[in-house]
Amino acid sequence: MSGEPAKGTMTVPLLDLRAQYASIRQDLDEAVRGVMESARFIGGPEVSGLEQEVARYSQCAHAVGCASGTDALLLSLWALGIGPGDEVVTSAYSFFASAGVITNNGATPVFVDVDPRTYNLDPLKLEATFTPRTKAVIAVSLYGQCCDVPAVKALCDKRQLYLVEDAAQSIGSEWEGRRSGSMSDFGCFSFFPSKNLGAAGDGGMVVMQSPELAEKVKLLREHGAKPKYFHSLVGTNSRLDALQAAILRVKLKHLDRWSEARAKNAALYNSLFEGSRVVRPYHDPRTRHIYNQYVIRVPQRDELRKFLSEQGIGHEVYYPVPLHLQKCFASLGYKEGDMPNAEAAAKETVALPIYPELAEEQIRYVAATVREFVDS
Ligand SMILES: Cc1ncc(COP(=O)(O)O)c(C=O)c1O
Repeated sequence: MSGEPAKGTMTVPLLDLRAQYASIRQDLDEAVRGVMESARFIGGPEVSGLEQEVARYSQCAHAVGCASGTDALLLSLWALGIGPGDEVVTSAYSFFASAGVITNNGATPVFVDVDPRTYNLDPLKLEATFTPRTKAVIAVSLYGQCCDVPAVKALCDKRQLYLVEDAAQSIGSEWEGRRSGSMSDFGCFSFFPSKNLGAAGDGGMVVMQSPELAEKVKLLREHGAKPKYFHSLVGTNSRLDALQAAILRVKLKHLDRWSEARAKNAALYNSLFEGSRVVRPYHDPRTRHIYNQYVIRVPQRDELRKFLSEQGIGHEVYYPVPLHLQKCFASLGYKEGDMPNAEAAAKETVALPIYPELAEEQIRYVAATVREFVDS
């Protein structure tokens, strides 16, 4: 390779949210000031405006803001009446919340292995996990690539199971032109700061097509009260702050540009890894990939991580322990070898910096450093 900066001459963080802030500072500062001056901190036009905008962006009829992506999943299962005695199937390879919310609702998580190329659940393995107690499936779209929701939905429909999309990492991603989150009973978004659409703190949103389900989630996020102080059911407090909503409305205008910049960075990495032993992320041509993460696969992953740290390059493993092997799920009886693709991914994958503001020379430096370790 030629043209890459000399070793040790730069540091590249995994994510640089200060660069993003610098690029839209004036609009963000004005949005924050607007909320402070209005003193409408709970509900109000910023929250309802964002709900309408995200619903439209996600090809959904409704959207309900809530406190986090975890709560979006939690409220979805709750609204569907999932509880003790029920089983919910989800991917063995995801952030913990995809499974934790099942236990939080009193139900039992059941895991299905992932496709080794996309790391999304493998629809061909799904049906074998169904039992008479199965009530729902949570289909995770990992790293920003929409999973094959139509295939999962067809299997769910056959058994009259609910389907929830964990779209925490995949807002704006598509499966054959249909937006992530729009193809099931509920789509769940996270606005954790590192997501493509990230708040200045926690936030989340549930999207749906059904007005009845929208109403149910709205009730559950506000202690089941409608009107205020009249409680038809027991819910919780899981609201999205107006300050976060105002910030997210500014950022939503830039989301497609940012996601395209991430995809462009991914394409540059892909070309720089041409002919390398590095396994590049697989992009299913049926999807729009928004590259929340750029995840490569290498032998000696842990040694590579050490080398990257020494060279000032940020990186992370999403995720080092597959869900079925987490200590808190030991009582479910899974063992090593049950989900070979998830287990291999946990050992061999690492995410590299992919954020939109990365300079080309930074990407060249990261790729050259990875290649120096992997190919020499
Ligand atoms: C796949 C997945 N599901 C759920 C969540 C939970 O979202 P939050 O951190 O906003 O609660 C995340 C976010 O980290 C995630 O990546």
